[in-house]
Amino acid sequence: MQELLTEIAEAAAANPDKGNVATYIPELAGIDPNQFGIAVALADGRVFTAGNADVPFSIQSVSKIFALALALGRVGDQLWYRVGREPSGLSFDSILLLEREDGIPRNPFINAGALVTTDTYLAGSTPREALGELLRFIRAACDDDSIHMNEKVAKSELATGHRNFSLAHYLASYGNLRASVDKVLGTYCHQCAIEMSCRQLALAGRFLVDAPRMPGLVSIERRRRINALMMTCGHYDGSGDFAFRVGMPGKSGVGGGILVISPSRASIAVWSPGLNKYGNSKLGTEAMEHFAHKTGWSVFGVPHGGEGAHV
Ligand code: DON
Repeated sequence: MQELLTEIAEAAAANPDKGNVATYIPELAGIDPNQFGIAVALADGRVFTAGNADVPFSIQSVSKIFALALALGRVGDQLWYRVGREPSGLSFDSILLLEREDGIPRNPFINAGALVTTDTYLAGSTPREALGELLRFIRAACDDDSIHMNEKVAKSELATGHRNFSLAHYLASYGNLRASVDKVLGTYCHQCAIEMSCRQLALAGRFLVDAPRMPGLVSIERRRRINALMMTCGHYDGSGDFAFRVGMPGKSGVGGGILVISPSRASIAVWSPGLNKYGNSKLGTEAMEHFAHKTGWSVFGVPHGGEGAHV
């Protein structure tokens, strides 16, 4: 495993086409694209890393996994009256389907759906309390109390996030938000501004790995369903492409991070800030494609001679 991760990090460093860093959140625009990290937390407790695996980055939409777990913990299946479970086939910040589908977002990972999950875990508490609960969940998942939010990134997105405000107002016009637009957006932008390293994110993802020694923060059924949503919707309009190339459930963020789950085996985090045309990490996706090819960890079957044997 160590050899494989080192090989992957070296290939990433040598690749001149790193994709484009997201610039629509001004505070993220200046990130050095020449960074790459990867971490694998195995079901048996071992952790392997390569590259810049201990450099914190903005997890952005990867936070939507933790937000979804928290919202489901609050209201259970009631959530599905307010948000769907289908891929949208459109970019993460699209407003198109909201009008056609009466203010019910397609899934909890596109921005419109994530605003509904944020509104759900926010219900009945202040943004500070709700974000405190979210941080407690993540800190418990990775057993690390140092996880924090970057206030500058949150403020930077709040000051410029006109599309998300539009989505929230649109949701509110259909009665699909309980809290005020300002409260939901303030909470959502702080949630997205959580910073973690690949090592921390891989450890935090273990609650989605179906194995005896993993943190039991959600039920088996819920874990399965979150993984299913990651596979079908975790990369927006690039979800089919990611499933085709990698074959494992994954959730990306515009900070360049991706959390990938190999059910029963491992939680994997990869980070490279440059994005592809879907807004997902370019080298992160390529690294996971290489990783899946070498390990044979696609959920769609182990290729002939594939193993996982050398781990
Ligand atoms: O709402 C936004 O636009 C960002 N805070 C998060 C979007 C994101 O990470 C999309 N992922 N690839």
